Amino acid sequence: MYHVKCIKCNTEFERNEVIYTCKKCGGLLVVEYDLSKIKLKREELDGVPLSVWKYRALIPVEIDPISLKEGGTPLYKCDRLAELIGIKELYVKHEGMNPTGSFKDRGMTVGVSKAIELGMKAVACASTGNTSASLSAYASKAKIPAVVLLPAGKVALGKVAQALMHGAKVIGIKGNFDDALRLVREFCAEEEFYLLNSINPFRLEGQKTIGYEIADQLGWSSPDRVILPVGNAGNITAIFKGFTEFKDLGFIDRVPKMIGIQAEGSSPVVEAFRAKKNDIVPESNPETIATAIRIGNPVNAVKALNAIYDSGGFADTVTDDEIVQAQKDLARIEGIGVEPASATSIAGLKKLVDTGVIDRDERVVCITTGHLLKDPEEVVGICGEPIEVEANIEALKKVIFPDLP
Ligand code: F0G
Repeated sequence: MYHVKCIKCNTEFERNEVIYTCKKCGGLLVVEYDLSKIKLKREELDGVPLSVWKYRALIPVEIDPISLKEGGTPLYKCDRLAELIGIKELYVKHEGMNPTGSFKDRGMTVGVSKAIELGMKAVACASTGNTSASLSAYASKAKIPAVVLLPAGKVALGKVAQALMHGAKVIGIKGNFDDALRLVREFCAEEEFYLLNSINPFRLEGQKTIGYEIADQLGWSSPDRVILPVGNAGNITAIFKGFTEFKDLGFIDRVPKMIGIQAEGSSPVVEAFRAKKNDIVPESNPETIATAIRIGNPVNAVKALNAIYDSGGFADTVTDDEIVQAQKDLARIEGIGVEPASATSIAGLKKLVDTGVIDRDERVVCITTGHLLKDPEEVVGICGEPIEVEANIEALKKVIFPDLP
């Protein structure tokens, strides 16, 4: 029903081989389905509760999955924010509502299940935080050890706390995410640890269900655009694949335009898009308040650029100030709490509406990839500490009604 294939030289590999890139040419791998052999009918999905495993017929795992009940995240219709930005129809797909607070759980339920299916006894990743939090939780559920490599001092506190509490071996690397990823790839090539960064094509098979779910939640239709942050560039690829498979199965009639947003200080994919190139020039010192997407050499860049070009999409940058403003707007106007990287989707939408790239009568879905609680230090940095008062009613009223005599 499916096989693993190189996107560059088309070489096919045994689906149960432990490989992460093409053995012939080093190209990225993809899991490819023979969709003509998929017997699933759209009607069979109607009424089934949302979850990653709702779409099991299209997920390449044979064993009982290692699951913490991931997926089934809310798709909020955000009319007030839509009005503020000046667009007709806006939805926010809040992936922060997954078990460990980010979309990574969709990838990890599939990736860690695959690790067990392949007989692997341990797992590893490099991470800007969320991948490590998620991998640590799923490794615990699977009763196998996890090693996670983080760029020292550059990971949001909530994410480090999760990885520590779930019992992973948490290692700070003196370098950035790209250094950590290079190192963990080297380590997994030498030791029997299953690599669960998004270079692993099975992980993206879990994340493609974001696309499936949006189509399902919109009554088997596609929005005009899907906007999301781009870091290591796996998620945009995965979501595009999800929509494309549903279209090829006849479940929906078109694929949305995929819009990738990066922070101005960390934007190799946007630079490649602007130069109409199919690959990136890596950035050696990426910097942004959105530490989750502080990545200069995204491994899936080629796939992501394909997704953007093939869907007729777009890529753009936003500044850290725009990210913070969008994070506040979403929290204060819609009650949706997200981490900075997630707010790039909203900041990007605003910029693209203001610059006329997106029409005001379009139907747009912004994906918010991680929960507000992931990065408490950033919040205190931009909102300040709570006010402290003496424990009496006069002092209390004075801070609540500062203008009263
Ligand atoms: N948003 C959040 C909150 C993320 O944590 C990430 C990636 C992205 C967006 C970008 O997704 O890499 O698929 O393009 N975080 C990774 C990590 C790198 O290690 O947690 P992408």
